Amino acid sequence: MSDATDTDARDGQTDAALAEFIRRLPKAELHLHIEGTLEPELLLELGRRNGVDLPCSSAEECRARYRFNDLQHFLDIYYEGVQVLVTEQDFSDLTAAYVRRVAADGARHVEVFFDPQSHVPRGVPFADVVGGITRALRDAETELGVSWRLIMCFLRDRPAAEAMEMLELALPHRDVIAGVGLDSAEVGHPPAEFAEVYARAREAGFVAVAHAGEEGPPQYISDALDVLKVRRIDHGVAAIEDEALQRRLAELRVPLTMCPLSNLELQVTPDLSLHPLKRLLDAGLVVTVNSDDPAYFDGYLLDNYLAVQRALGLSHADLAQLARNSITASLLPDARKAELITEIDHVAAGT
Ligand code: HPA
Ligand code: ZN
Repeated sequence: MSDATDTDARDGQTDAALAEFIRRLPKAELHLHIEGTLEPELLLELGRRNGVDLPCSSAEECRARYRFNDLQHFLDIYYEGVQVLVTEQDFSDLTAAYVRRVAADGARHVEVFFDPQSHVPRGVPFADVVGGITRALRDAETELGVSWRLIMCFLRDRPAAEAMEMLELALPHRDVIAGVGLDSAEVGHPPAEFAEVYARAREAGFVAVAHAGEEGPPQYISDALDVLKVRRIDHGVAAIEDEALQRRLAELRVPLTMCPLSNLELQVTPDLSLHPLKRLLDAGLVVTVNSDDPAYFDGYLLDNYLAVQRALGLSHADLAQLARNSITASLLPDARKAELITEIDHVAAGT
């Protein structure tokens, strides 16, 4: 027998009511590249402000280029876009726009990635990148009540020695940078290349996370756990191919920060109805929903929840569980997690 909690949340409900239910669930966004929130309008404005030539001259023209064959195709366009980010103010404007947008989706906490290697080698001081992002995050915390953590990512298709240099630059900012991550082109760049950098980062007190199993094999997920000793896996789509790995992730309660619209746009999954999110959730994994690079993948946090709800027929209980998982998987203190989870329980129970 099935009760109301495991039926499709869309049954008997308007799209607007469903969106409102999800919006009201307190949520954390845990997989978000701040450079991937650069909307074409701001891209063009900053290009003009900083005298950077761009391959498109209207927002429509820029958006028309966002049809991606794979991760590398996206990365080529994303790294082109980051060139317009030059001053501390640019990073602050970018971040302020994102937090306003995600707060409107009902996000109460964000864990934001940034890529210092996209900026420092161009001559942008590390302190300006971190200063601009944190200024906007602090303001948003005061004005919108959205708490935050900052995670710096190493580009895995660049030498590990360069990552080590970034880590040295980050040490004076240890008070505002909570963790390290690993992003960019995955295939051919296994986690083990970064073992030493991660060991040093963990020693310095940074939390470790890593992208794994986006385009790469399940082995990269196991290696991220064994070699980099990460506490979370970003993406982890390939876990669906390995049941023993799924059991390990479930038992150890290692969260997966999944990004459904990203996976669709980068052709990691050919169709959202085939996305493994629901199967992994049902297998007991701590699965979360996130937007990755929302300006490029046509959807912010709430859009991602709505897209998987529709494609996979998620119930209200599934949606509440995804919100709970996002809080559990976050770097928030336990007492704050408990408060937010109590709020989720009330929203889910309609009380
Ligand atoms: N995957 C890997 N690296 C990235 C991504 C992504 O989706 N977005 C920004 N850097
Ligand atoms: Zn990502």
